[in-house]
Amino acid sequence: MGGVVELHLPPDLLIGGGVSEQAGELAHGAGLRRALVITDGVMVEQGIAGRVAERLEAAGIAVAVFSEIAREPTTDEVDGGLAALREHDADGVVAVGGGSSLDTGKAVAVMASNEGTIGDYAGYDQIPAGGLPLVAIPTTAGTGSEVTRATVITDAARDVKMMLLDTHLLPRVALSDWRLTVTCPPSLTAHVGVDSLTHAIEAYVSSKANAVTDLLALRAAGLIARHLRRVHADGDDEEAREALMLGATLAGAAFSNASVALVHGMSRPIGAHFHVPHGLSNAVLLPTVTAWSLEAARGRYAELAEAMGLAADGDALVAELEALNADLGVPRLRELAEREHFDRVTAAMADAALESGSPGFNPREPTAEEIVALYEEAW
Ligand SMILES: NC(=O)c1ccc[n+]([C@@H]2O[C@H](COP(=O)([O-])OP(=O)(O)OC[C@H]3O[C@@H](n4cnc5c(N)ncnc54)[C@H](O)[C@@H]3O)[C@@H](O)[C@H]2O)c1
Ligand SMILES: [Fe+2]
Repeated sequence: MGGVVELHLPPDLLIGGGVSEQAGELAHGAGLRRALVITDGVMVEQGIAGRVAERLEAAGIAVAVFSEIAREPTTDEVDGGLAALREHDADGVVAVGGGSSLDTGKAVAVMASNEGTIGDYAGYDQIPAGGLPLVAIPTTAGTGSEVTRATVITDAARDVKMMLLDTHLLPRVALSDWRLTVTCPPSLTAHVGVDSLTHAIEAYVSSKANAVTDLLALRAAGLIARHLRRVHADGDDEEAREALMLGATLAGAAFSNASVALVHGMSRPIGAHFHVPHGLSNAVLLPTVTAWSLEAARGRYAELAEAMGLAADGDALVAELEALNADLGVPRLRELAEREHFDRVTAAMADAALESGSPGFNPREPTAEEIVALYEEAW
């Protein structure tokens, strides 16, 4: 336990029901006077983006809204957001929505003060200059993007999901308000909920875990495991919604400061080639990859199982992950991809997984051949 603890979190982080109502004061305090709100069409329709815009205006901030965000954002949306930012002469970004809106907001905020395109900075710590201040307000529970140093942007021309991890991507203000998640339908709740559980598990077994990310990850795993089925079954269960959002934000804080590992490394190429939502592509891999990794970190997986209310045993964890997928209606990989297409790209997917760096933090490190075999097993 002699390891170094290094933590990077948003300077202002508020978690709890109603905290998004403080968006105006906190954005103003962060120096925003002309904000670009980055969000998607659903958030505009539901009135969530409008309510945030009203709060900003009430604090004396001039607002423009950019809502042309697709699910799993691409370089095109980043370019569009940047054009809107320049047109409004904005001095800061307020991102409202799921991980797609938050990740676009992060990319736009840093590209406002860096040359070139976002793809020039893929990987770890490649962004030269800090960006405009960013206020992040998630509406899913959740990617944890509001507290992470990461953004994931797809290069549509190459079908590659680029991961950027850099302290310059960290929001200045994060407002994690579970009340904004009550309209999430069951399938979205399930997919993004398993994403957050994957963040907690991977942060805990990561070779970069430290004493504080361990606390965050264990607490997050317990909260998510105990409440995800409840929210999936009854979206009006407010107590469970609150617990799930807290778990998602803590899991984000854990993985951003430890790392994700093999599940995320293998999941991004699935998303890029088969346009599967991020949470779902993690869910289809999580039991298989956990079972394969178990032997390298039996004690860590047993601690996670215990935190999730199971017997302190890695096999119990794998059984629970399989049961959770079944209960949440997560399909098999074969139901999400065509066999011929899959055969054509698995070798390239394995290379892309390794290239992302994430598998290098897994307790058991795979070769490209082993990754292909794991894709096959999850099929
Ligand atoms: N930066 C990070 O640290 C990080 C971590 C994990 C995932 N991600 C990224 O996040 C993205 C996925 O984000 P996501 O799973 O939150 O989904 P999303 O942002 O893609 O949203 C999915 C859909 O749900 C809708 N939605 C969002 N909130 C809603 C609500 N409250 N009520 C009803 N509908 C709602 C959206 O409008 C959209 O149509 C992926 O691109 C993934 O790569 C980023
Ligand atoms: Fe994730």
